[in-house]
Amino acid sequence: MDEGLMKTYARADEVFVDGRGAVLHDQDGREFLDLLAGIAVSALGHAHPALGEALRDQLGKVVHLSNLFRHPYTENVAQRLCRHTDMAAAFFTNSGTEAVEAALKLARKAMHVRGTPERTSFAALEGGFHGRSLGALSLTWNEKYRQPFRPLQPVTWVPPEDTAALRRVLEQERPAALVLEPIQGEGGIRELSGDFLRAARELCTAFGTLLVHDEIQCGCGRTGRFLAAQHHGVVPDVVTLAKPIAAGLPMGAMLCSAALADTFQKGEHGSTFAGGPLVCRAATVFLDEIDRGLLDQVAARGAELRSGLERLRHELPIVREVRGRGLMLGLRLWHSADAVQKALHRSGVLVNCTAGDVLRIVPPYVITSAQVQDALATLRAVLATFPNDPKEVH
Ligand SMILES: Cc1ncc(COP(=O)(O)O)c(C=O)c1O
Repeated sequence: MDEGLMKTYARADEVFVDGRGAVLHDQDGREFLDLLAGIAVSALGHAHPALGEALRDQLGKVVHLSNLFRHPYTENVAQRLCRHTDMAAAFFTNSGTEAVEAALKLARKAMHVRGTPERTSFAALEGGFHGRSLGALSLTWNEKYRQPFRPLQPVTWVPPEDTAALRRVLEQERPAALVLEPIQGEGGIRELSGDFLRAARELCTAFGTLLVHDEIQCGCGRTGRFLAAQHHGVVPDVVTLAKPIAAGLPMGAMLCSAALADTFQKGEHGSTFAGGPLVCRAATVFLDEIDRGLLDQVAARGAELRSGLERLRHELPIVREVRGRGLMLGLRLWHSADAVQKALHRSGVLVNCTAGDVLRIVPPYVITSAQVQDALATLRAVLATFPNDPKEVH
């Protein structure tokens, strides 16, 4: 098993060979309903016909150029992302982590430009996840990920929803940036309130700290709006995106406001591969689908899934809470979700487990109504096989 690979992941045994929409097939022809979408990535599902056609066409034209040359799709995607996010300029990356890293460097440079180069520290929220490079890892809360790699960058932690603590940290420490996920993904699908997001916006403005929204998992339409913070009318200074942005190809972006758009000068940041013709062509297919109304489907399927999950919460005492928005949902149990996740897998439904007790449900945006009902039926059947007597599960 896993020969030749480092042991960084616990991999399932199946070998997946193809799929269609929200369905995956393994090499024995077994069918799985994919409610994980490659960890919130494959928004258009598997084998999307328009994506395949566009990529085949692009492969016959040009795949890579470097950022030393212009390409129409790169500029097209940058402008469309700026429009969708109310930002002014984009820096492309190959992953979410790199987008966060770019945001941290942008914040440091912005402090130099403002004449406050001593403002080098960062603030982040307890429970947050922002990636695993040394910079992004510094902002990631989980001690298991951090411990073997110290020393990390200095970060001050703020408990989610604690506006007084946030004010204290920003006032006393004057960090360069506050980085937060409007809905924490790895932290267990925990949504921040509109009140807290608005307070963070006001406090960052008051104390000259850049507000960075990491929407790598909750952005790009997953909640039914392009950005999760748009549900609350909050516009940050910087947004990071990745995961579904190129419909499964590796791509990320760091976008910033007009005031920050000239912060990086030539040579101050870069990437050989990022924003190349092939990934940007894929991103145009994703953005075209959004322009055709894909997010209405996210909202509709999300509502169906959520009301089904709420029914399960009423019926089955093992279910503690339904969390999230749109197609970014979490089912929090009264005990570890690990065994339930494995049982669902054996029953042909793929989800994963975050924060120990939460089943994370982040299906492709193209999941059908019938597939949502199938998923709910399997969830009910599997959860019913676990202890549901409140005395046993609490
Ligand atoms: C909110 C958030 N930020 C950053 C990352 C890191 O992204 P990547 O794995 O593409 O480097 C993730 C990945 O799960 C994420 O969920």
